[in-house]
Amino acid sequence: MKLYSIRQYLVWLTLVPLLILAIGLELYFVNERSNDLDHDLTERAKLIAHQLASSSEYGVFSNNQHLLKNLAQGILQQPDVSGVMILNAASENLIEAGDLFNETKTAIIDTSLTAIDHSDSRKKMLVKKVSQIVNLQSPVNSDGKSLWIYQPIVSMQVTLDDFELKPATHQMGAVIIKMSWQRTEQLKSQMFWLMSAAVALLIVISFLLRLATSRRISSPICELSEAVQRIAQGNLETRVIQSTHVAELNHLACGINNMTARLQQDISELKSSEQQLHNLSAHLQHVREEEKASVAREIHDHLGGTLTALKMDMNWLVDKMTANDQANPLLKHVEAMSQLLDTVSTATRQVITDLRPTILDDLGLCAALEWQAEQFQKRTGIKCLATCCTEGCSYQLNKAQTINLFRIFQESLTNIIRHSGASKVEVNLHHENEMIILTISDNGCGLPEGHAIAPTSYGMLGMRERVEQMQGKINFSNLPEGGLCVRVTLPFVAENKTEVAT
Ligand SMILES: Nc1ncnc2c1ncn2[C@@H]1O[C@H](COP(=O)(O)OP(=O)(O)OP(=O)(O)O)[C@@H](O)[C@H]1O
Ligand SMILES: [Mg+2]
Repeated sequence: MKLYSIRQYLVWLTLVPLLILAIGLELYFVNERSNDLDHDLTERAKLIAHQLASSSEYGVFSNNQHLLKNLAQGILQQPDVSGVMILNAASENLIEAGDLFNETKTAIIDTSLTAIDHSDSRKKMLVKKVSQIVNLQSPVNSDGKSLWIYQPIVSMQVTLDDFELKPATHQMGAVIIKMSWQRTEQLKSQMFWLMSAAVALLIVISFLLRLATSRRISSPICELSEAVQRIAQGNLETRVIQSTHVAELNHLACGINNMTARLQQDISELKSSEQQLHNLSAHLQHVREEEKASVAREIHDHLGGTLTALKMDMNWLVDKMTANDQANPLLKHVEAMSQLLDTVSTATRQVITDLRPTILDDLGLCAALEWQAEQFQKRTGIKCLATCCTEGCSYQLNKAQTINLFRIFQESLTNIIRHSGASKVEVNLHHENEMIILTISDNGCGLPEGHAIAPTSYGMLGMRERVEQMQGKINFSNLPEGGLCVRVTLPFVAENKTEVAT
C-alpha cells in the first residue's frame, strides 16, 4: 500500500475541498447574479416599453410623427436601449429609431431620426424583418445579442349598450423596444473575473495557512520520526528539540527524550552487570582450573608417591616369597594385590590427566590436542585426526587461552559422542595474521534445524563464555555435506608477541 506523508494529507484535506467548495460557490453566485442581471434588464425593458406605449397613444392616434420621434429619441437615451419602433394598428411602421438592425447605436440615433425614410416599401421591409425576430404574440423575445420587447398600445373605449356603460379595449398599435445585452454581459464578465480573483486569493491564503500549519505540525513530526529512526538504529545519544508549538508534540518529544535517557541508563547498567558476570565467570573458571590443577598435584604427590612406594614394597615382597618358597599359597594373593595396585595406579594417573593433562603444560596445545584426539579415538572408535599448523607463527598463546581452547575441544568431543552419531572427526589448529583458529568438524547429523541453545544446555554456553572472555569469536555451523563445524577464532595477546609459537 502506498504511504502518504502528513504534508500530502494536509494538501488533500485542505486545498482540494477548499478548491471544490470555492469553485462551486463561485459558479453558484455567478449564475445567480447573471440571472438577476438578466431579470433586471427584462423588467426595465418591459417598464420602458409600457411607458412608451402609454405615452405614444396619442401620437399613434393622431399619426403625429414629430411627437413619436421625440418620444423615441427620449427612450433611446435610456441605458441599454438600442432601438425603438412604433407600429400602428395595421402593424405598419410609424417610426423607428436606433440600431434596430445595425450595430452602431450613436450613428443610427443621429442619422435615423434625421433621415428617416418614410417610403412604404422600407417600412414594410422593417416590419417584416422585426416580425421575423419578435413574436408579436409574446411580450419578451431574445435573439441572444438583443432583447426585444413587444408592447401593444391599447386604448380604452367605453360604449353604451342596453343603457349600460361597457368598457372595451382596442389595440391602436404597438411599440417594440430593442435592448442590448452588451452592458449586462460586460457586468457578468466583470463579476466572473472578480469572483475568480477572490477564489484565487482564498486558495493562496489557504496555501499560506497550510504552509504555516505544515511548519508547525508536520515538520516537528518529521523530526520526531527521524529521531526515532536514529534511536532504533541504536544511537541513544539522540535528543529531540522541544521547541514545537503543538502541546501534544511537545509532550511526545519530552517522552522520547525521557525514554532515551532511561534506556541509556538501563543499558549502561545492564552492560556493567553483564561485564561483572563475565568477570565472575572468568574468575570461576580460573579458580576451577586452579583447583583441578591443585587436586591433580595433590593426588600425584601424595597418592601417587604412596602408591609407588606400595608397589615397590609389593615387588620386594613378591621377590622374597618367590625366593623362599615358590609354592607358598600367599604368593598368589600378593601377586593379585600387586596387579590391583597397578590398576589403581593407572586409574589415579587417568584421574590426574583428566583433571589437568600435564602434556598441556609440558608440551603445549598442539601436542595436547593430538594426544586427546588419540585417546578419544581409542576410547570411542570414532576416527579423530588432529592437525596443527603453527609453524612460522611468532606469537604464543597464554596459559588461559591454551586451557580454554583445550576445554572447548574436550566439550566438542563430548558433544560428538552424545549427539552427532559421527564416524569421523577432524581437528585443525592454525594461525592467520594475528589470530589463532581452531576448527572441530564431524560428519554426524549436525545441529537440528532452527537450533536454539536450551536453558538446560551448558556446553555450548560455556564454550561461548570462554571465547568471549578472550575477545574471540565462536561459530557453530552445519556443513553442506552434513555434520557440525565448531570454529573458534582468538586474537593473540599483544604481550606474548616475539615469543615462540605454541
Ligand atoms: N556435534 C554435534 N552434533 C549434533 N548436535 C550437536 C552437536 N553438538 C551439540 N549439538 C546439539 O546442541 C545441543 C546443545 O549442546 P550443549 O553442549 O550446549 O548441551 P548438551 O550437550 O545437551 O548438555 P551439556 O550441558 O551436558 O553439555 C545438544 O543438545 C545437541 O542437540
Ligand atoms: Mg554438551
